[in-house]
Amino acid sequence: MTTSVRAESLTRRFGSFVAVDAISFDIHAGEIWGFLGPNGSGKSTTIRMLCGVLAPSDGKAEVLGIDVARDPEAVKLRIGYMSQGSTLWGDLTVLEHLRFYAGLYGMSGRDGEQRIVAWMQRTGLSERRDQLAGALPGGYRKRLALACTLLHAPQMIFLDEPTAGVDPVSRREFWDIIVELADEGTTVMVTTHYLDEAEHCNQLAMLYNGKIVARGTPESLKHLPQLGTTVEILSDDCVGVLEAIETLPFVRGAGLYGSSLHVALASAADIERLGAALAASGLGAQPPQPVVPSLEDVFASVVGSP
Ligand SMILES: Nc1ncnc2c1ncn2[C@@H]1O[C@H](COP(=O)(O)OP(=O)(O)OP(=O)(O)O)[C@@H](O)[C@H]1O
Ligand SMILES: [Mg+2]
Repeated sequence: MTTSVRAESLTRRFGSFVAVDAISFDIHAGEIWGFLGPNGSGKSTTIRMLCGVLAPSDGKAEVLGIDVARDPEAVKLRIGYMSQGSTLWGDLTVLEHLRFYAGLYGMSGRDGEQRIVAWMQRTGLSERRDQLAGALPGGYRKRLALACTLLHAPQMIFLDEPTAGVDPVSRREFWDIIVELADEGTTVMVTTHYLDEAEHCNQLAMLYNGKIVARGTPESLKHLPQLGTTVEILSDDCVGVLEAIETLPFVRGAGLYGSSLHVALASAADIERLGAALAASGLGAQPPQPVVPSLEDVFASVVGSP
């Protein structure tokens, strides 16, 4: 198995503030590696170091075998980077953007045009080739940013919140493209605050205050011993039930989940106590049932509410 990213004690300080605190991880080729964490936890700072944009303060990182501190320019040429709030020019059309990026990566002539046509098709932008980027709906702006990121066929791409502010259908279509790319062998490191998207990742790491506090496959994270027991409560008045139970001493956390409630308990022994408290409340809730926690439950338990 080839390693696309190897980070060892990677650290970034801004003055005395430690934004990324000695994190170590490997990303294998062809993996979709998801990076989760609350605002300000250090996700973008890590990605910027890996993309050769920001120098590490300490530690080491290799991307596609290249040391990011020693040769950041070589890294930039080999990877694709879709930055957070990625930059497009409102007064350039879709086609003009792609031609600009083709030029930047030295893909002129027929090869460049063929790639542009192929990527416009793949991202559903062909019909909009002459529209100004500023006039595109949000989902299409993200697709254009992705096409610009992929035009030079990088082996590894870094996507920093690529679907922020995008509607659910467009997000799903965007993720179809990401999954296809990974199937074709592209390595993907991606950040998101949408935990439904994190289910598409092969590996996840949760960052908190610059440190990785949990990692593993989405499935393995749902079975971390520290999560205790998660139960679901069905009720017509979930908000009322939430208010009634969240201050109970044995409730470690509770939140709305779809049309039900998920409650974190220290152990299965607390299920009966919760059931008794619910029955006494007179709110008409169903008895609590054990469930596999969602990634939202895991996130809330490990790093606080998203
Ligand atoms: N150039 C900078 N100078 C000083 N502090 C910075 C700089 N860049 C980032 N930081 C700080 O480092 C911390 C981590 O920021 P970062 O942007 O990496 O977080 P993030 O996890 O990407 O957050 P978000 O989910 O909001 O995008 C924050 O406290 C931020 O204010
Ligand atoms: Mg960020």
